[in-house]
Amino acid sequence: MNVLGIETSCDETAAAVVADGGTVLSSAVFSQVALHRPHGGVVPEIASRQHVEHLPQLLDEAMAALEWPRLQAVAVTYGPGLASSLLVGLSAAKALALRLNIPLIGINHLEAHLYSVFLARNAPRYAESCPLVALIVSGGHTCLVRVDAPGQYRRLGQTIDDAAGEAFDKGAKLLGLEYPGGPAIDRVSALGDAVRIAFPRTRALKADFAEGLAPELCFSFSGLKTSLLYYLRDHPEAVRPPVLEDVAAGYQEAIVDVLVRGTKRALQRERVRTLAVAGGVSLNRRLRARLIEMAAGLQVRLLLPEAAHCADNAAMVAGLAGIGQGVTGEAAWALDACPNLELGAAE
Ligand code: KG4
Ligand code: ZN
Repeated sequence: MNVLGIETSCDETAAAVVADGGTVLSSAVFSQVALHRPHGGVVPEIASRQHVEHLPQLLDEAMAALEWPRLQAVAVTYGPGLASSLLVGLSAAKALALRLNIPLIGINHLEAHLYSVFLARNAPRYAESCPLVALIVSGGHTCLVRVDAPGQYRRLGQTIDDAAGEAFDKGAKLLGLEYPGGPAIDRVSALGDAVRIAFPRTRALKADFAEGLAPELCFSFSGLKTSLLYYLRDHPEAVRPPVLEDVAAGYQEAIVDVLVRGTKRALQRERVRTLAVAGGVSLNRRLRARLIEMAAGLQVRLLLPEAAHCADNAAMVAGLAGIGQGVTGEAAWALDACPNLELGAAE
């Protein structure tokens, strides 16, 4: 099945055509990062306006790969994300599917991120890789999910405050590095010593949430950010080289350590032999190295997305729809933007 995917949940406008869930015929992405950078973060009004301006061009680019009559479905992210941004993609997708008289498929952005690992070259099939544990680490979300089959999700843990990507972005801001902070900290940390300055590895406490999630599989990053704030107050020289590199590396190590430890506990508790890690933060080189090491130690198969599919893109949206997942039929036409959509219920 040839599916056109549309993604406008945050600050990337994207369209892609994927055949049969796995063959990416085209994938066009317009990143708005440069427009949001002067503001130090995503400005929702700018994001939605940019989606409106750029989506038509991106649809043309994506559809250069396929004649319109050969398109069989339109898939679109309907949450989670910024309401005003989600609405742009959702409205466009509904209009296109209605005009072409083909099915509309609503896709959960977090599920699409998870599916991105199956777009990689030589990746196994999704259904054959289950059961698995997924760590989804993006700018807005950090969660651990058990997957028993495509579409069957149980949330094991999540952050109780900031997402991992947010911790990178906020930390970078304190260090005077540019937005988005993840790539900047990744780059600067490569020159630093990760053990010279130790930042705390905060654990989520049982009292912090009441969702039936296991505290040992939950994350907390806001204390880490505060400790960086205090460190910089006491060591103003740390925002300049050569100390900057060590501070960034120590801060990154704390985030990575917390993510890897939680994920290891989830794998051991769930006794599964496959781990999928996806979302923008899965680009982080130190996180990848630590995950490879951990997975080898546990003899667990590690699935990671290719670089092009880590950050927001529409190939993961069209791909997931192409294997029969997502909201279809009348329910799809009734979909509204769901800014707080989650992945899987807690046990
Ligand atoms: O998945 P994504 O593109 O958008 C959301 O769905 O949120 O993730 C964006 C996040 C940002 O917080 C960004 O700083 C982070 O991914 N990121 C990284 C790296 N590249 C992007 N974090 C750490 N290291 C990186 N190399
Ligand atoms: Zn995302």
